Amino acid sequence: LPVKLYNDNGDNFVVIAHRGASAYHPENTMSAFRAAVDMGAEMIELDVLLSKDGVPVVIHDETLERTTDGRGKVEDYNLRDLKKLDAGSWFSSGHKGEGIPTLEEVLNFAKGRIAVNIEIKTEAVTDSLNGGIEEKALKLVYKHKMQDYVLFSSFDYRAIAHLRELDVDISTALLYEKSQSEKREPKELVSDYKANAFNCSQRQFSKKWAEQLNEQGIPVFIYTVNKTQQMRKVIELGASGIFSDKPDVLKKLVDNL
Ligand code: G3P
Repeated sequence: LPVKLYNDNGDNFVVIAHRGASAYHPENTMSAFRAAVDMGAEMIELDVLLSKDGVPVVIHDETLERTTDGRGKVEDYNLRDLKKLDAGSWFSSGHKGEGIPTLEEVLNFAKGRIAVNIEIKTEAVTDSLNGGIEEKALKLVYKHKMQDYVLFSSFDYRAIAHLRELDVDISTALLYEKSQSEKREPKELVSDYKANAFNCSQRQFSKKWAEQLNEQGIPVFIYTVNKTQQMRKVIELGASGIFSDKPDVLKKLVDNL
């Protein structure tokens, strides 16, 4: 595996909580990450964008409407204003007042507890090649000495190439989905970008790809799988890990295999 796990169960399979335990708590919030740890997940996945004042914040959408009570784009607000938003009420009244975490807050929490997959959102990559989101996220990872416990990923492969330039050892994963206009085979892509893992949509995943990549020592992590039946199928096809909104369900299945 490309990352160390604090709670490695030795089976070389990674239970990844997608945006935290997001079936039960508002996605990308501290309560979702805490629940993922409590459920025995080995990794949390989260999404990062930059605030207007350049702080990596943990939120999936480029705009605030779906998961907060704010309006407009994340990049148009300074951190102190993003911090005033409620990122919990949309999910349930019991989560009222939960805030948007910074990447630093999550790393601080994760250290010693759980590995972290940091997805650099495509929207944040555009102007990042000089002192942008990759440098900022990496700096926080170094500061918290989490370099062995993080896996960076992105649908925008410029971010992956840039991270490799910045750090020859940091673990990266290419995110892949059906709509990707990419013509290269996964194994070529992984070697072109010097990536350490392949994070693939379950719609696209095949046994052939799993075999090709596993042969090269590249694990394939599949997103987003919430049904036991499908989890079982994906594991049979050769996945090394699964992103799930229900890490407890996945954990139970994996433990009983
Ligand atoms: O990183 C795996 C999965 O989260 C990718 O899709 O849309 O949730 O970023 P998305």
